[in-house]
Amino acid sequence: MADKRNWGFCLTVCLASFLVANADIKVSAPVGQLFVFELQRETFQNEFEPFLKHYAGRVYNDPMVFKCNKQSFPDLPEWLRFTQRHPYDNGFLYGTPMSAGKSIIEVTVINKRSYDTFRERLIINIGPRANKMPFQAEFFIKLREIEKVLPSTVQAAIKQDVMRMWETDRLEFVNITSALDRGGRVPLPLAGHYEGVYVKMGSDQYYSKCLLKLQSPDHQRQCEAGGRRETGDCAICTIPSNCITWCKSILIDLSRPVAAPPAPSMGSGVLEAGGQYDPLDSPPTRDYFLDYIVTVLVPLVLAILLCLLLAYIMCCRREGVEKRDARTPEIQLYHHHTIHGNSSELRSMAGARGVPPPLSSLPMFNFRTGERPPPLQSDSPSIPLIMAQHEPNIDSLPRK
Ligand SMILES: *[C@@H]1O[C@H](CO)[C@@H](O)[C@H](O)[C@H]1NC(C)=O
Repeated sequence: MADKRNWGFCLTVCLASFLVANADIKVSAPVGQLFVFELQRETFQNEFEPFLKHYAGRVYNDPMVFKCNKQSFPDLPEWLRFTQRHPYDNGFLYGTPMSAGKSIIEVTVINKRSYDTFRERLIINIGPRANKMPFQAEFFIKLREIEKVLPSTVQAAIKQDVMRMWETDRLEFVNITSALDRGGRVPLPLAGHYEGVYVKMGSDQYYSKCLLKLQSPDHQRQCEAGGRRETGDCAICTIPSNCITWCKSILIDLSRPVAAPPAPSMGSGVLEAGGQYDPLDSPPTRDYFLDYIVTVLVPLVLAILLCLLLAYIMCCRREGVEKRDARTPEIQLYHHHTIHGNSSELRSMAGARGVPPPLSSLPMFNFRTGERPPPLQSDSPSIPLIMAQHEPNIDSLPRK
């Protein structure tokens, strides 16, 4: 009984580990060469809909986005970059590893239609340098975008062209970089405008005569003068979009020893060994009186002047008091006089109340019919606050 349980347990574990092991993708990459891994949507589509395709015969084409990171890290390793232009395009992991080792990349696929996710591990075994490539060259391809250059067929076509220029077939890609990563500009969203791509290739064969022209002073002068020389005499491109820009291409010769940078020269402020630090004297005192005058007194004087001006306008230039000798008691008298006049005017108006008041000032005047309620009993001590409505249509309503 226990044996059987053990067997079952082992089977599950083994199956699980087999499945996990199966989910990993293993690839290898040599140091110093371009590594490209294409994340194909089609493959992951099968992972999302394994049965639909086989049994229902239905094939989806879902938008998918990929998230890639180094295992248990938030980002990718330094040497690896990821690009995917659009959820309907494949993604690419690419870069040039510079030291041997193992990189485990977690790829999370998000299906943008069903919002299913799927995770896969990509194990990159970085092996030792396959071949030395002391002679390198970098070409600029103007009419390309990074995603359009990374597929292996396009890489092969570019390699073919460079092989003919270099006159060797011992060529490898070292790096492919979007011009945007080098400070290039995002192009206008128009046909015929591309970001541009830098392609770096290396070989153990010395440069051909043709490529050596890139180093001639003649070439540099021409490029500086016009910059119009898009293609050199020996630039070869079988497909127009793979044509290189001759003036932006350079040769990188790693076989020559690199001159060591000059040793840093000491400045005057460095203390000699065993010396004693002698602090500087404190700076001479400065007279701040002028600054004080400018920052405090000038605005203060201005403010006082403005105040005086405002006071003059408010007190002596008021409407109706324009008399030159309008002294204070006279103003008060004037005020008193007007208040007196107004109140007597109101009194006389109140005395002339014999006229019937306007209809609209009466309580409960029906403004539509002009009907007035029967006069109130003047002897009733209190007037009801809300009186019955005398609207004919309300009266005609059936009573409950
Ligand atoms: C490849 O290009 C990227 C981006 O320009 C750069 O960061 C990286 O150092 C390059 N790698 C090599 C080996 O040239």
